[in-house]
Amino acid sequence: MMADTRKLMRALAGEKQAVPPVWMMRQAGRYLPEYKATRARAGDFLSLCYTPDLAAEVTLQPIRRYGFDAAILFADILLVPQALGADLWFVTGEGPRLSTISGPDDLARLKPADAIHDRLSPIYETVRILRRDLPADTPLIGFAGAPWTVATYMIAGQGTPDQAPAHALRIGDPHSFDALIDLITDATIHYLKAQIEAGAEVVKLFDSWAGSLPEQAFARYSTAPIKRIITALKAAHPDVPVIAFPREAAKGYAGFAKATGADCVALDNSVSAAWAADHVQIDGCVQGNLAPGHMVTGGQALIDETRRIVEAFSGGPHIFNLGHGITPDANPDNVHVMLQEIRG
Ligand code: CP3
Repeated sequence: MMADTRKLMRALAGEKQAVPPVWMMRQAGRYLPEYKATRARAGDFLSLCYTPDLAAEVTLQPIRRYGFDAAILFADILLVPQALGADLWFVTGEGPRLSTISGPDDLARLKPADAIHDRLSPIYETVRILRRDLPADTPLIGFAGAPWTVATYMIAGQGTPDQAPAHALRIGDPHSFDALIDLITDATIHYLKAQIEAGAEVVKLFDSWAGSLPEQAFARYSTAPIKRIITALKAAHPDVPVIAFPREAAKGYAGFAKATGADCVALDNSVSAAWAADHVQIDGCVQGNLAPGHMVTGGQALIDETRRIVEAFSGGPHIFNLGHGITPDANPDNVHVMLQEIRG
């Protein structure tokens, strides 16, 4: 097979490049007026996720505006819980709300892992549209939440600052907690396989709350389920690279690629690029890690930080990205400033 010459795929294959590929988490989002217009047409966020033409349209918007080196499917990590039978809605200005899980009775009401596809079939259709409409040189990234992070929302029924309800179930009823993690893990394998079969060329696992797990629990509930998902995906699709994002893992980032089989580890901005180059990039590709706040404040600090990160990771494979999603108050012009600094 001929080697893939696209910048993102080369970085994921372990190649060091003078100019790294670049994309941004939440690149399709509320900082863009065209996103807000399409979201208004859809009516609400979930309708946007489940309307393939419109979800594909917002995925394409940042590609047209900025020419990023990758597109990421427009969807949400909480569609999997919904497909498993949880109630899901979004409260404007506040975030997601779900039915909660407090023990075996709530678990028993969920569907089996392989029953998710009917509900999620519009997402697979979005992937097919994107593979048709994206420029041939722009790879499509599919994604899912990692089991621990998805479990934190399913248990608490909303985002929580410290994930306390999930920690309470993990410690107080480990049997139910393990069953929930296993169910989400199996569903995620089904979901990502289906995204790949529809045309996703890379997949990313978001473990946004990995940082709140103490060491032993991190190994058991972040590393192990992610490893199980990657092992299953690689068995079916050995050539599809996987990016893993155990956000705020701190020293847990070291060794994470080896422990899980991930082709790339995405870094949040709480770790320094210099440290990550020595302790994470030694094992392969890294992605990150500009603080999203620079997209709000801009100026020389944005330029200096962008340069510093590119230089710190210049010795190995690197995908430039933010350390977390771009925020709604970001100035779209600052994205051009960042791109100019990276690409010259
Ligand atoms: O990155 C992308 O452009 C792809 C699409 C994407 C969204 N969510 C769209 C979205 C991706 C990859 C996600 C992942 C996601 N969703 C995560 C993991 C990454 C992270 O941010 O830590 C999490 C925890 C969620 C759950 C979620 N979805 C929350 C907590 C919220 C509310 C907070 C917020 O930003 O409003 C969402 C809503 C959401 N998901 C929006 C978008 C564009 C904003 C919804 C809107 O348009 O009102």
